[in-house]
Amino acid sequence: MALYSEKVMDHFRNPRNVGVIEDADGVGEVGNAKCGDIMKIYLKIENGIVEDVKFETFGCASAVASSSMATELIKGKPVSEALKLTNQAVAEALDGLPAYKMHCSVLAEEAIRNALEDYYKKHPEEKKD
Ligand code: FES
Repeated sequence: MALYSEKVMDHFRNPRNVGVIEDADGVGEVGNAKCGDIMKIYLKIENGIVEDVKFETFGCASAVASSSMATELIKGKPVSEALKLTNQAVAEALDGLPAYKMHCSVLAEEAIRNALEDYYKKHPEEKKD
């Protein structure tokens, strides 16, 4: 059996939403101390909807594929839904990750959560629901 699913390979080779949003409404950055990989997420939010999302990941193939898939999963979705994104959902959407690579998908969940926290900090008038 191949180590990585077709979807992981696809998102690693052709990652979606790579880049920076200069005037982002929320930015989140997380790192994994063990492997040293770093992920940064930029969000553009309008009327409670994730209008745009971009990422920069300096990390392994699973981290790149996870960030790519995670951005696809929250793009165009309400903030309330983006807040609920779990690393399991990201891994499932990628048709699975090897067990020892699950922590890479955790980076995506945490980076998005941090970016949303940053958004709420900058926009205290928006309430979490
Ligand atoms: Fe560090 Fe994948 S090995 S995020």
